Amino acid sequence: MTRKTVAVTGATSGIGKALAELYAQKGWNVAAAGRNLASMDALARQYPNVLPVACDVTRPDDCQNLVAQSLERFGRLDVLINNAGISMRANFADLDVEVLQKVMDVNFWGTVYCTKAALDALKRTQGTVVGISSIAGFQGLPGRTGYCASKFAMHGFLETLRIETAADGVKVLIVAPGYTASAIRERALNERAVPQGESPRNENKMMRAEAVAQAVFNAVQKRRRTLVLTPAGKAVVAVKKFFPALADKLVAREVGKEQ
Ligand SMILES: NC(=O)c1ccc[n+]([C@@H]2O[C@H](COP(=O)([O-])OP(=O)(O)OC[C@H]3O[C@@H](n4cnc5c(N)ncnc54)[C@H](OP(=O)(O)O)[C@@H]3O)[C@@H](O)[C@H]2O)c1
Repeated sequence: MTRKTVAVTGATSGIGKALAELYAQKGWNVAAAGRNLASMDALARQYPNVLPVACDVTRPDDCQNLVAQSLERFGRLDVLINNAGISMRANFADLDVEVLQKVMDVNFWGTVYCTKAALDALKRTQGTVVGISSIAGFQGLPGRTGYCASKFAMHGFLETLRIETAADGVKVLIVAPGYTASAIRERALNERAVPQGESPRNENKMMRAEAVAQAVFNAVQKRRRTLVLTPAGKAVVAVKKFFPALADKLVAREVGKEQ
């Protein structure tokens, strides 16, 4: 039986790393894309079906190269997981606009560049485009204008792509993890576009990246449209739908607890 192939961006850390490892364990061919090839060496040594590919998603040429290398080595592409992402922490009034530009470059434009590069190959396999979004793609969160804007933009892009490619058999899955233990908060940009260097929340109380990866794998297999994770994340999305003003108050109170 022909092995299926997945390409995962941001496979060096957190959810992307867990996804690359899970797909490799399941026997898929994996193009593990990241900016730091050395950090994927251990995975590639353990699983011969893992191909590390250097890819900064803000560079269209890197995204094209990711798809070209996947096809050259494995001959097909079945799933593209747009996972690479960065966050931010600063009120809009205080920040350099550069913060929003950097976040949009990775989260939104990175998704656009990789999806553009992969679309023809995914049409051939009637494959799946996955966008790792966030609860911040459904609900504005204080201190995260750029992050929420990037995730809302991902939703608009991916929802439209879903309609446009339905006749080709391509599926689009939007994933909204809730709080998940990872490096994302430590690396979040402050008002001067510098990583803040620490997480303002207790990472031990969060969902594990491995559990997110398993849920994403299952949702891809079931060809689902949307996956919203964690009880708190599901509650926010539901309250936002029916009581948007209440949702604003709830998230302001919750985010206000951060150090
Ligand atoms: N953790 C959460 O609570 C949470 C909640 C909701 C949504 N998410 C989403 O989940 C995704 C993964 O985040 P995570 O929590 O796993 O964070 P993470 O541990 O910080 O991992 C982020 C990954 O993105 C990569 N990345 C950043 N900029 C990149 C670029 N320009 N080109 C290529 N790769 C780049 C990082 O690579 P480097 O090592 O090279 O920087 C890293 O591999 C993100 O899209 C995030 O928005 C996370």
